[in-house]
Amino acid sequence: MSAITFKAVNQSNVASQQNFDVMEIENEFCRAVITRQGAQILSFERKIKNAETNVVDVKSLLWCSELSLQQFLDDLKSDRKTKAIRGGIPLCFPWFGGHLTDAKLPSHGFARTQLWDLTSVDESAQGHQLVFTLQNDVITDLFWHHQFRLTLSMTCSEQLHLVLGIENVGDTDFDCEFAWHSYFPVSAIESVKIDGLQGKKFLDQLTNETYVQQHTQIQFDQETDRIYQDVAGNYQIHDGLRQIDIQTKNCKSVIVWNPWVGKTQRLGDLAEQAWRDFVCLECADVQDNRLHIKAGQSALFSMSIF
Ligand code: BG6
Repeated sequence: MSAITFKAVNQSNVASQQNFDVMEIENEFCRAVITRQGAQILSFERKIKNAETNVVDVKSLLWCSELSLQQFLDDLKSDRKTKAIRGGIPLCFPWFGGHLTDAKLPSHGFARTQLWDLTSVDESAQGHQLVFTLQNDVITDLFWHHQFRLTLSMTCSEQLHLVLGIENVGDTDFDCEFAWHSYFPVSAIESVKIDGLQGKKFLDQLTNETYVQQHTQIQFDQETDRIYQDVAGNYQIHDGLRQIDIQTKNCKSVIVWNPWVGKTQRLGDLAEQAWRDFVCLECADVQDNRLHIKAGQSALFSMSIF
């Protein structure tokens, strides 16, 4: 089965490919749900076929807060301003976390709440490839006075493969940060172990202290909010039941985040126990690894999840 369905929450019909709110993709290899807001992939389920029995198992590779998604759909229905959706892969750009000089500017930048253009859809024997773009306009100019073009290519196949291009289309250089703020599903946060960060320096955002990761694996027993720098780019998340592999190119930082009990209550878009069900491992270029992109130049980043 292979299909793309475009849905507009307020209308029964989608008049054009640019008129959708949510898009669902299904092919031989996977099922995916993507919103036009933020060009955000909310769900990616890989189909794994047992060659002997022909039985298809589904492996979920992304997690999304049902509460946050419901708030988003309700806001769309009533024409209210929508917020960032907590789940899948929001893209943070052009800054990560709070803005350095103006606390009123949106946390994690504006790319995750802007409407992107879907510029191409290709279907092949390997699955679907979609390309979304976001360019500076009067709205982004309110937040950041630079001329840029973001191109996000998503290949939905046996893996989820993302390629991000950040282009400086203006005539002055700019600095920026970006992060793929991915939410990964886990069976229980206390049993999660993450490989791939041993020996790496990190800033603990909760204490503002810098440490070096001594243990081979990261484990969780409290709120965790760390920014690792100068990382190698490949990680595995194990939770006893499943392993998720993440491979990146050009992403020199990684943020590891879980809000635990207290912050979950403060956030307001997570169910009470939701902190147990996900971990964020965010492949990025932030702080000391922020990007400097010269006028007329561009930079490319990629991430595969399987
Ligand atoms: C993480 C940050 O990337 O995102 C945390 O390291 C932050 O400090 C978290 O709390 C969630 O941010 P937001 O803006 O989506 O609530």
